[in-house]
Amino acid sequence: MSNLLVINSSSAGEQSVSRQLVAAAVATVQRADPGVAVVRRELGDDPVPHLVRDTLAGVRGVASTPAEHAARALSDTLIAELRAADTIIIGAPMYNFSLPTTLRAWLDHVIRAGETFSYSEAGPKGLLEGKRVIVIESRGGLYSEGPGQIADFQDRKSVVQGKSVDLGGRRIIKNKTPPAPPPEPPNARACR
Ligand SMILES: Cc1cc2nc3c(=O)[nH]c(=O)nc-3n(C[C@H](O)[C@H](O)[C@H](O)COP(=O)(O)O)c2cc1C
Repeated sequence: MSNLLVINSSSAGEQSVSRQLVAAAVATVQRADPGVAVVRRELGDDPVPHLVRDTLAGVRGVASTPAEHAARALSDTLIAELRAADTIIIGAPMYNFSLPTTLRAWLDHVIRAGETFSYSEAGPKGLLEGKRVIVIESRGGLYSEGPGQIADFQDRKSVVQGKSVDLGGRRIIKNKTPPAPPPEPPNARACR
């Protein structure tokens, strides 16, 4: 049996454009593999906390306080979900020319030295391999051409793409035309 991990990071609830596109991609995966087990993280409803002074050492150090142990336990759980997944679908809308902080906080918990990446002479090396990572992006503006190109963190220097590579994703598929897309609201655009 294969496992699908679904990460939605929009805070817009059911109105979320990226969530609709993610749902279409999930449906496509399920059609191809009806037995797939789906685990969801709805970060806009149930956010992963930001790393703060009380918790930082739990993820990037040695946990000693109860808050640090709790952060370590959450990080362990999120990493276990990643490890178990064969396919990972991430909804990543553009908020203020970057990722939603909900997604950033999740990344801060799963990118852990010795667990999901290691340092090598050639730079950071991902330790999770053989996974298909699908990043679905939405944004209000046009960045593929014209003066907006400089601000196109998604297409030109995608933070999510970079982090996925660090995680050892074998392939990153950024959908311009996701499989079986729902009707697109006027401000939506999914990018390859
Ligand atoms: C807080 C916030 C910040 C946004 N910032 C940008 C932005 O910098 N550039 C842009 O093109 N669109 C921006 N948008 C528009 C969203 O990227 C766009 O509506 C997208 O489809 C939202 O996806 P969602 O509905 O899944 O949250 C912003 C929207 C929100 C709510």
